Amino acid sequence: MKVFITRDIPAVAYKLLKQNNIEFQVFKKDTAIPRKVLLKKIKEIDGLISLLTEKIDKEVIDSMPSCKIIANYAVGYNNIDVKYAKKKGIVVTNTPDVLTDSTAELTIGLVLNCCRRLYEAEKLLRNGKYKGWKPKLLLGTELKGKTVGIIGAGRIGSAVASRLKSFGTKIIYSDSKPNKSLEKNVSAKKRSLNFLLRNSDIISIHIPLSEATYHFLNKKRLSLIKNSSILINTSRGEIIDESYLIWMLKNNKLKSAGLDVFENEPIINKEFLNLKNVIILPHIGSATIEARSAMAELAAKNVIAVLKKRKPITPV
Ligand code: GLV
Ligand code: GLV
Repeated sequence: MKVFITRDIPAVAYKLLKQNNIEFQVFKKDTAIPRKVLLKKIKEIDGLISLLTEKIDKEVIDSMPSCKIIANYAVGYNNIDVKYAKKKGIVVTNTPDVLTDSTAELTIGLVLNCCRRLYEAEKLLRNGKYKGWKPKLLLGTELKGKTVGIIGAGRIGSAVASRLKSFGTKIIYSDSKPNKSLEKNVSAKKRSLNFLLRNSDIISIHIPLSEATYHFLNKKRLSLIKNSSILINTSRGEIIDESYLIWMLKNNKLKSAGLDVFENEPIINKEFLNLKNVIILPHIGSATIEARSAMAELAAKNVIAVLKKRKPITPV
């Protein structure tokens, strides 16, 4: 049985595959695998461990006729044509849960950065512009007493909500279905999306990207947000109409934004680089030793389960 892994991932995955006598090959270069190379490598594989940077579309799926499982090394799986894979009898798995804490913690980091202008403050100091303590230097806002709006109260959204609750915030959320444990644990209130956008001081997005959620925050919805609010995105860039978001940041229609994801990664819209009221990060939500090792372990276990004809652990 042969498995192809599209990038070097934590070694725990290799150890597990070896223990189970599964042969594997890894694309070890420090760049995303070129599509041509990918198409050549997968012809005879039984399983694929892919990253969110690879588009696993019909052409790729048709190029691996013996493949039984695509284990995505990510919780999001918008890079995979899941419907077509299923039609071809291929199981698709992702890595939920194990990256929830890491992503939630990074989200809190972005929230605090935006509230207290940490990035601006750091830059001022580095640029030699700190001339001593001043009553009105870099005033931010407290989290205490503010309303936090969580868009998508799933695993990560809930983890962000419970952390922000400890700062003394009021939590509201929008989702297609109620989350009773969130309501019980942090007294969160379910509200319509429009209500949430109009009334939240901090808005954080935690919905998966699909055809239905592309530009979920379009111009019309973004326009509902208060000028004094902060918008955080650690989900997928395509959820927000990015050019309108840039217009809002430029014209003070939003206090600030904290972004870990972008519409055309790895290309970043140059306009962001000149804006003071945005902090931009290179998609590092799950980038902790703990999460990335656990993701590697879970991806390998999913592959092993399916190749040994057992049920996958985390099918999508
Ligand atoms: C990261 O963005 C993931 O989906 O795991
Ligand atoms: C600030 O550093 C203070 O002492 O109030």
